[in-house]
Amino acid sequence: MITNTGIIAMSYILATILFILALGGLSNQETARRGNWYGIIGMTIALIATLMGVVTQHYEYVLVALVVGGTIGLIAARRVQMTQMPELVAILHSLVGAAAVAVGFANFMDPGRLSHYAGVELTIHDIETYLGVLIGAVTFSGSVIAFGKLSGRIGGKPLTLPGRHWLNLLLLLAAIWFGYQFVVQSVAGGGMQPLIIMTVIALLFGIHMVMAIGGADMPVVVSMLNSYSGWAASATGFMLGNDLLIVTGALVGSSGAILSYIMCRAMNRKFLAVIAGGFGTSEGTQAAGSEDQGEVVAILPDETAELLRDAKEVMIIPGYGMAVAQAQHVVHEITTVLREKGINVRFGIHPVAGRMPGHMNVLLAEAKVPYDIVFEMDEINDDFPDVDVSIVIGANDIVNPSALTDPDGPIGGMPVLECWEGKTTIVLKRSMATGYAGVQNPLFFLDNTRMLFGDAKETLDAVFKAL
Ligand code: TAP
Repeated sequence: MITNTGIIAMSYILATILFILALGGLSNQETARRGNWYGIIGMTIALIATLMGVVTQHYEYVLVALVVGGTIGLIAARRVQMTQMPELVAILHSLVGAAAVAVGFANFMDPGRLSHYAGVELTIHDIETYLGVLIGAVTFSGSVIAFGKLSGRIGGKPLTLPGRHWLNLLLLLAAIWFGYQFVVQSVAGGGMQPLIIMTVIALLFGIHMVMAIGGADMPVVVSMLNSYSGWAASATGFMLGNDLLIVTGALVGSSGAILSYIMCRAMNRKFLAVIAGGFGTSEGTQAAGSEDQGEVVAILPDETAELLRDAKEVMIIPGYGMAVAQAQHVVHEITTVLREKGINVRFGIHPVAGRMPGHMNVLLAEAKVPYDIVFEMDEINDDFPDVDVSIVIGANDIVNPSALTDPDGPIGGMPVLECWEGKTTIVLKRSMATGYAGVQNPLFFLDNTRMLFGDAKETLDAVFKAL
């Protein structure tokens, strides 16, 4: 054990600075890699300092835990497909929640608790424990349900129980009441019963909260649970008296909250309305009938290549299907060929394209698409009237005009990339199936839209050859 608290304090401050630099770096594609390294170094310093400073004996247990946890993490990270990242993030959030619950209970059962704390200090410590377990349990069960929804194990349809807002209010009031009971009984050496009852209530609340949120609003849930996991870690920091955990948790909690706000704004939703649930009333991806919307016009890869060759302005709109097909590399190759021909190629990125924040940016960066031709939706949405060809690669909801024309629909009110304002739109997908929100897309049936059916990687390979 390092007895020099000065060294530990310095290490914690250094780790905190590195975490802040990491967040700053991750906010921009060009600096994201550096940001990641800051985070890795910061976490290594934090781990070493905590191990040396806090653990006093039985290092072997910690080592075994590190090896087991590290191995599982390594295998999971190597195996996970890019399309499964959101699920992985959701299940990792659940671990933070579970850890907060475990630490809370362990802290409460610590025999030295009543001799360490007394009076107001004990009450404050108990409230910290209670809040830590509460936030942790909500995060845990909510994240498990989010994992189920994102991986398709649970349907995307929101569960709207009758009187669900009253039920939520009732659960909240019960949690407050048992909190009071817990603090009162704890002084007399009791309190386990109200703590257990509250844990069950919090678990139910987490399940109910995420079950009530519809498919199209899931992006907000992921970032919101990210935020909760931060607050759960922060609460754990208070319980353990660990400043670094408090600060790190607060960084994650507040950045997750800011991200939730940005996602809500991008989807034109109010945060409270998303949490209250009930949006996105359709069931996941499904084959929808096309008969009521008219005929679609199919196009072949050769014809697509011809249209591209004749264009001056091309806009590429990637979506979840590009991630599924792993088509980003051939997209880059096509982009290079077209630019060599003097054609202006740009990418339009919708804030909720794919299944996690920044999903498309990560894929395009992996394929080495230059950053300066990748634009946010707001930057290029007015330019579509001048675009000759828009290529929609495995995207659906983010280019759905019904978001603007049907305000009461599952994606009603969400700003979308208005590619139909351009000369020609080519949509690459395998079938007429709907996207994540489960709504049919009138874009496919417009006169200036052509459908290039097939796996995006295969069709784009063919387009590349034809070019
Ligand atoms: P979606 O609306 O889900 O559409 C993706 C389309 O890709 C599908 O219609 C599918 O059609 C097609 N596709 C799948 N695999 C393909 C392949 N191998 N080749 C070609 N096409 C393929 O995706 P989007 O437009 O990116 O919109 C994102 C949606 O996900 C939004 O509703 C958003 O709210 C939600 N969401 C986003 C996030 C974040 S944070 N970004 C998180 C959770 C949910 P076929 O089956 O016919 O091929």
